[in-house]
Amino acid sequence: MGLKIYMNTITGTNVKTDVNTLKRMKYLIDKLYEYHKLEADEFAFLLENHTASTGVSSIADKKNYTDDENNTNDKNYTDEIESISQYLFEKSRSVAQKYYSNKIYIRGLIEFTNYCRNDCYYCGIRRSNKKADRYRLSFDEILSCCDKGYALGFRTFVLQGGEDLSYSDDDMCHIIYAIKSKYPDCAVTLSIGERSYESYLKYYKAGADRYLLRHETASPTHYRLLHPKNQTLANRKQCLYNLKEIGYQVGTGFMVGSPYQTTRDIVEDLLFIKEFNPHMIGIGPFIPHKDTPFFNKPAGTLELTLFLIGILRLMVPNALIPATTALATIHPQGREKGILAGANVVMPNLSPVHVRKKYTLYDNKICTGEEAAECRFCLQKRIESIGYEIVVDRGDCKPILPS
Ligand code: SAM
Ligand code: FES
Repeated sequence: MGLKIYMNTITGTNVKTDVNTLKRMKYLIDKLYEYHKLEADEFAFLLENHTASTGVSSIADKKNYTDDENNTNDKNYTDEIESISQYLFEKSRSVAQKYYSNKIYIRGLIEFTNYCRNDCYYCGIRRSNKKADRYRLSFDEILSCCDKGYALGFRTFVLQGGEDLSYSDDDMCHIIYAIKSKYPDCAVTLSIGERSYESYLKYYKAGADRYLLRHETASPTHYRLLHPKNQTLANRKQCLYNLKEIGYQVGTGFMVGSPYQTTRDIVEDLLFIKEFNPHMIGIGPFIPHKDTPFFNKPAGTLELTLFLIGILRLMVPNALIPATTALATIHPQGREKGILAGANVVMPNLSPVHVRKKYTLYDNKICTGEEAAECRFCLQKRIESIGYEIVVDRGDCKPILPS
């Protein structure tokens, strides 16, 4: 294969590619499989070469390939890189199989409030979005979501919302305690943003088991471009460390292809995740929302998201990794592809249908019209069609096994 130069539009640099590049990519995947870590430059090498072939990080950038000879994408080379992705996915699937066999855990997502005191530039429920139709679910409505969910086989309930302080700590503890008392065989996961150490401790004592708090980006410079000044990466990270210290199973993660994201930013995300060693890792493509400052920014791609799921599975072999709704929103088989890249969790919606469209973080979010039961059985069919099965289980993180 001749030497080609591809424009990497994450970094704006030209990436020279030849047969040695492909060999080195395979070597690095093997190394990651064996040792669960790589150096920053090694991650960058994998990502830049992957991105150079697939048309980079965002859907809108797909046109921007350059080729030193005839300005068309080299199909052979793209096929080779595709085969590298498949090579990665075979390994990442085998690791997921080793820990979780062909079992997929389901989490019932209850989006209980779309009020938010924050103003993340990417998020459809940000405080400044005056067009958002705001709602809050009552105690009884939340419990009734759990009742439905339990009957459908859910054994984890995820309470997610904007940062809405109108639910006091006592309110949250009351909700958590009621769910745990009624359904002691279930786990409660919280995803309600940045709170004080004391608040996290109260929720934990009330019975909360897990907490999801994506770090969003591990680069302070990039963080600044995605959030207003009063929201800091330092505080977000401190929250993550506090949650771990208290004893929660903790999840973190980031958006793929978020505006201004570079390869180096993603490398920082990977290194941070390696160091933090979370129980759960949530990544999904950034998708623009029409009423946010990023309304015209391109969405992240399926290819890069899947590639990163594969890398994360090798890096943190026992992690709980969801195939996210955002992934399913940018591709009709996004969830299935996510599982085949190494994910082992799906989080269908248990929120009442009348509020679903109001919890719009990004445009065209799927499953906003269906009843919980419909979503549950649709997912089951999809998952069985690729040889996996949904299980009735809390779905805790398995301990790490010897290599
Ligand atoms: N308020 C809580 C928090 O900050 O963690 C939980 C809710 S927040 C809306 C959940 C996640 O949605 C965020 O961590 C972010 O990564 C993701 N998100 C927000 N806007 C998005 C967008 N436009 N595209 C893709 N994901 C988005
Ligand atoms: Fe609510 Fe970002 S806009 S946490």
